[in-house]
Amino acid sequence: MTLSDIEAQLADLREDAQTAIASADSLDGLEQLRVSYLGKKGQLSKILGGMGKLDPSDRPRIGASANEVKESIQSALDDKRTQLQAAQIQARLVAETLDVTLPGVVRPQGRQHPLNSTLDRMVDIFVGLGYTVATGPEMETDYYNFEALNTPPDHPARDMQDTFYLPDGNLLRTHTSSVQIRYMEQHDPPIRIVAPGRCYRRDTVDATHSATFHQLEILAIDKGLTFTDLKGTIKEFLRQIFGETDIRFRASYFPFTEPSAEVDVRWKGKWLEVMGCGMVDPNVLKAVGYDPEVYTGFAAGLGIERFAMILHQIDDIRRVYASDLRFLRQF
Ligand code: DAH
Repeated sequence: MTLSDIEAQLADLREDAQTAIASADSLDGLEQLRVSYLGKKGQLSKILGGMGKLDPSDRPRIGASANEVKESIQSALDDKRTQLQAAQIQARLVAETLDVTLPGVVRPQGRQHPLNSTLDRMVDIFVGLGYTVATGPEMETDYYNFEALNTPPDHPARDMQDTFYLPDGNLLRTHTSSVQIRYMEQHDPPIRIVAPGRCYRRDTVDATHSATFHQLEILAIDKGLTFTDLKGTIKEFLRQIFGETDIRFRASYFPFTEPSAEVDVRWKGKWLEVMGCGMVDPNVLKAVGYDPEVYTGFAAGLGIERFAMILHQIDDIRRVYASDLRFLRQF
């Protein structure tokens, strides 16, 4: 092995390497080339292995040439690596491009029906006053809807005009007051409940009447409850839901309360009735086995539609049931 042999081999190696590196198309491939040319057992090492047989005075020269070849291969590898990495990033950018100007996917958004949101607000206020929620069936017996509520058979509220009777003699409850009886039968006083639910009446449908509507029944039974407690509770409830508005209690009549009242709220300059209420009639307490000498209580029936109409400025109750999205989307 002569000096010029080695120099020729080094020159070949440089040329080989330059060509191979130039055509490398991946970082892995490039790494393999590095190992094969400059690695410990690579081609450059092999060539230099032959140096031992050279005349010692020639060694520095070969050493210098070898270094030069090594550096030129290394710098070709470095350039190519930078180039391949840039290409890789570029490819990724292209693959992951997101056109933020594209119109989004429009997902339909549901919302609470105004009746439900109104009911939730009403119930929340009473829950805040210590009441719990009770429910009862919409299909009722005559007993729970009328009889136990001190409503004699000849009372006008039982007129066929007002009540939907079912073929089996049962009926669709005309009010949520039936839940009062069901609850008191199952529980001992003290009682503080609110009972929301749907009611049915054979009313002619117009702007303020619907054959199905919703009520929130209130019932409180305890020792020593008076009309003052009823008034205070109702006033506090109305203050919380409407803010400071004019209200008035008007004497009225219900078979299941004595005395009875209706409550009006001033809305758009007019008095609007929002509930019936009163002190629970002793006959109702007797019907569920409570001693009216020991317990008294008050009750109220609130029209949920009325509250929804006032809170949301709805002028016609029929809109509430029409399922017209143009209307419902406003809430
Ligand atoms: N049930 C009555 C109605 O539907 C409303 C009512 C009045 C409920 C007085 C009560 C009450 O609990 O005490 O017209």
